[in-house]
Amino acid sequence: MTFSVHRHALALAGAVALAAALTGPVPAATAEEAGTAAAPDISVANVKQHLADLQSIATANGGNRAHGRAGYRASIDFVKAKLDAAGFTTTVQQFTYNGATGYNLVADWPGGDPNQVLMAGSHLDSVTSGPGINDNGSGSAAILETALAVSRAGYQPTKHLRFGWWGAEELGLVGSKYYVNNLPSTERAKLTGYLNFDMIGSPNPGYFVYDDDPTIEKTFKDYFAGLGIPTEIETEGDGRSDHAPFKNAGIPVGGLFTGADYTKTSAQAQKWGGTAGQAFDRCYHSSCDTTANINDTALDRNSDAIAHAIWTLSSGTTPPPGKVFENTADVSIPDNGAAVTSSVTVSGVTGNAPSNLSVGVDIVHTYRGDLVVDLVAPDGSVYNLKPYSSSDSADDVRTTYTVNASSEVANGTWRLRVQDRAAYDTGYINSFKLTFP
Ligand code: TRP
Ligand code: ZN
Ligand code: CA
Repeated sequence: MTFSVHRHALALAGAVALAAALTGPVPAATAEEAGTAAAPDISVANVKQHLADLQSIATANGGNRAHGRAGYRASIDFVKAKLDAAGFTTTVQQFTYNGATGYNLVADWPGGDPNQVLMAGSHLDSVTSGPGINDNGSGSAAILETALAVSRAGYQPTKHLRFGWWGAEELGLVGSKYYVNNLPSTERAKLTGYLNFDMIGSPNPGYFVYDDDPTIEKTFKDYFAGLGIPTEIETEGDGRSDHAPFKNAGIPVGGLFTGADYTKTSAQAQKWGGTAGQAFDRCYHSSCDTTANINDTALDRNSDAIAHAIWTLSSGTTPPPGKVFENTADVSIPDNGAAVTSSVTVSGVTGNAPSNLSVGVDIVHTYRGDLVVDLVAPDGSVYNLKPYSSSDSADDVRTTYTVNASSEVANGTWRLRVQDRAAYDTGYINSFKLTFP
């Protein structure tokens, strides 16, 4: 007698009676039954092995992996061989810059909806002065290991997955610009998102998330929030890496960054550890950017965050992006003077505002303790976001507050109200943004 057993049938029929008739184990729940498959934990040991291999490549080729040098071509060949062995379809795209041939490597994971492509990328070139292990072996190795994890898991997401390693980023985003410029507009339109990873293992790390597409940004922030790790918005130069050409082409972008040559503040050292008053990466663009120039914890967390985002954003079950209302006009704040406001008009949202209204505040100021910051609802109700505090000596208010605004009607004019209550330091409202989930 033969019969097939389903988990549900088993549960209904009574496990004791059927157990004797079964010869094999109870089938595990499939991904469909379990909902969205969770991303695997990315092995930081594997990521570090890729970094050791990139270091060996640099060492064997004059100490760098720069555009036009043998160490760059060897880096491309190294990454490509791993992807080919794992079942990716790889393409090497050539371009010419400064009289030398440059290369981009693009790897497609077979399957998924060809009209919805999620892409992740990292620049693979170094500067000529060093091996470029944090900048940007780190991003390159992390997305390589994530791609290999996709293969090991046999992951078949709703969307099509693509990975890219860019050449000549250090000479002005040359490879990624070339890729985007040569992508037919029909192919560009299929890109639902581009995730960029450039420097994610800085030795004195910060945890920075790009403030671009809200859905991508939230995916990363939620991941770190789940680990209890505070994040900040990336501010060390928007447009300074390979997401810029994608963003300029209208493609939603996001990414992670642990800091380059900016200095870690004492507030940042308090929340993240490390050394205040020192650069996030003292070996940035130097010969000492070796395998010793990596913070393993930062590399580990960011690698896991990358896998989480790639799994979540490709699964097809991502909720639709929130509605965003933003005012980017600058409003100067009079010193020790009257309150000023920046407003947005919300329309097309039914019913009340949510209990988790996200209020993006970007105020540039030389002493933020001077400021009282309120959100004012359309009916005039006031929600204090930040009180006056003479001891709060940091600059700027650049953060996202979550406000329970569920007793307010959503549609109408919302205001960010800012008053400077102490003489001397001054500033302005840079932007005000409401996101309805
Ligand atoms: N892209 C720069 C480099 O490779 C590093 C960098 C500076 C950066 N600021 C950034 C990367 C902001 C991402 C985001 O040298
Ligand atoms: Zn660099
Ligand atoms: Ca002041």
